[in-house]
Amino acid sequence: MKGIILYQSKHGSTKQYAEWISEETGFPLVDLKKESIPDLKDMEIIVIGSWILAARMVAHGWMKKNWAKIKDKSVIVFSVGGDVPTEELKKKYMDSSLPKETKDKVHFYTYQGRFRQEDQNFMLRGMLKFAAKFEKEGDLANNMVVGVDGVKKENLDEMIQYIGSLSK
Ligand SMILES: Cc1cc2nc3c(=O)[nH]c(=O)nc-3n(C[C@H](O)[C@H](O)[C@H](O)COP(=O)(O)O)c2cc1C
Repeated sequence: MKGIILYQSKHGSTKQYAEWISEETGFPLVDLKKESIPDLKDMEIIVIGSWILAARMVAHGWMKKNWAKIKDKSVIVFSVGGDVPTEELKKKYMDSSLPKETKDKVHFYTYQGRFRQEDQNFMLRGMLKFAAKFEKEGDLANNMVVGVDGVKKENLDEMIQYIGSLSK
């Protein structure tokens, strides 16, 4: 089946997941911020990956604007954030990031990415340190001061299997 992977990444973890999906499926990659998007008309599977900023996928606007073009295809969406994924978090990100009409049509996955203090600017580092004072150990703001790295290829196993099942 013909597919494509569209992604938006700031510091590389979403890009890494997108590259692994591409390796496994042979689908080409398009950086939503830097490259022009080819005609999606002939595509049967659309994979969209985006990092999370303030509890919402940054690609939410793109999905809203382009849903009409992709709604009859198999759409798979994955979010990448600093928090440890749970069912509750997955629901929260689906609610904040997907247009209402897409929710029961999209296969949604949420993965942990990477966050390093040294990648952030001075102001953000200060804000995070302040926010972390009010959080418990293991909470997001705290993780973002200490740093997290949950990027693992095996996180993608379920999605890769699902994409394989579509091609049968
Ligand atoms: C300003 C800012 C806000 C963030 N907000 C969240 C958030 O609300 N929830 C979350 O899980 N991760 C949040 N993160 C962490 C990023 O989503 C995480 O580091 C992700 O892996 C970045 O993806 P990338 O490496 O593809 O850029 C935030 C990061 C930054 C810089």
